[in-house]
Amino acid sequence: MGGNAPGKPASDALVVEAVRDEWEMVAEGWRRWEPFFAATTLPVTLALISALRLRPGMRVLDIGGGIGDPALPIASMVGSDGHVISVDLSPTMIEIATDRARALDLHNVEFCMGAVEDLEISVGPFDAIVSRFAINFLRDMHTGMARLLDLLVPGGRFAASVWGSPEVNPMFRIPREQLARFIDVRRQPPRGTPGPLWLSKPGELAGVFAQAGFEDVESTDVTLYSFARNPDEYVRMVYETAPMFRRAFNGLSGDRQRRVREGFIEAVAAYDDGGVIRVPAVARLAGGARPVG
Ligand SMILES: C[S@@+](CC[C@H](N)C(=O)[O-])C[C@H]1O[C@@H](n2cnc3c(N)ncnc32)[C@H](O)[C@@H]1O
Repeated sequence: MGGNAPGKPASDALVVEAVRDEWEMVAEGWRRWEPFFAATTLPVTLALISALRLRPGMRVLDIGGGIGDPALPIASMVGSDGHVISVDLSPTMIEIATDRARALDLHNVEFCMGAVEDLEISVGPFDAIVSRFAINFLRDMHTGMARLLDLLVPGGRFAASVWGSPEVNPMFRIPREQLARFIDVRRQPPRGTPGPLWLSKPGELAGVFAQAGFEDVESTDVTLYSFARNPDEYVRMVYETAPMFRRAFNGLSGDRQRRVREGFIEAVAAYDDGGVIRVPAVARLAGGARPVG
């Protein structure tokens, strides 16, 4: 990712490759921390499912589905007459998602490797499309949203979540504050490349839906918390699962790494809630429907 002149957008292929490499780097961490993530993200998963108004028998597309969320719970909901396709860039994420589907004995879900922007129209149409914390990584939001609209049946719904901005989101603010002691976090990721905090401001995600031509656009914020049993475990979880933090941390000198780690541990220790660390977070959700006719 680092080879572009400041302010010059990276080419499409380079952006996709860089995003894929970032998620490959942490995919095994996602396998290890999956039960923690499942609990953390439950309120968002439920809100997305509710926004999709799912029924048994529906065909659903999950974009940037990672290790299988929310594709797997949705596969349970649409039942054996329904079908779910989850698309992701990272082969290791897909391998983990496939393992989880097998463990859950789900046969109506398939995991495909590729970029959402390159989806062929022939994979559709879908009754519903969902994306949890992934739409913000699309290299070309305009083209990506237009393609998703085309992939829906008329009246079909798309619902997505992104993270809220650091000001309202301690889960992101705390590690950023620690890194900001030594690097310019506003340059992370470099300009012109997608990242975890794209569309994080109020109304931005709903605006993207409206601009793309979705109607009946609704949006809401969901409060959740990420947790661990102690501060040390919390910091390890972030290091093993958050690509931006990990890359920036690995680029620091040994002494700075030690200071970031100590500062991070001290900051999350303030969120000890009866022997569990609970760090609050905010997700922004939006959903809309493809116009009928
Ligand atoms: C933050 S993870 C979210 C994974 C999952 N949806 C969840 O909520 O657990 C973002 C995922 O989006 C995938 N991704 C990013 N850009 C993508 C793109 N353009 N096409 C397909 N997948 C993409 C990454 O590989 C990564 O697995």
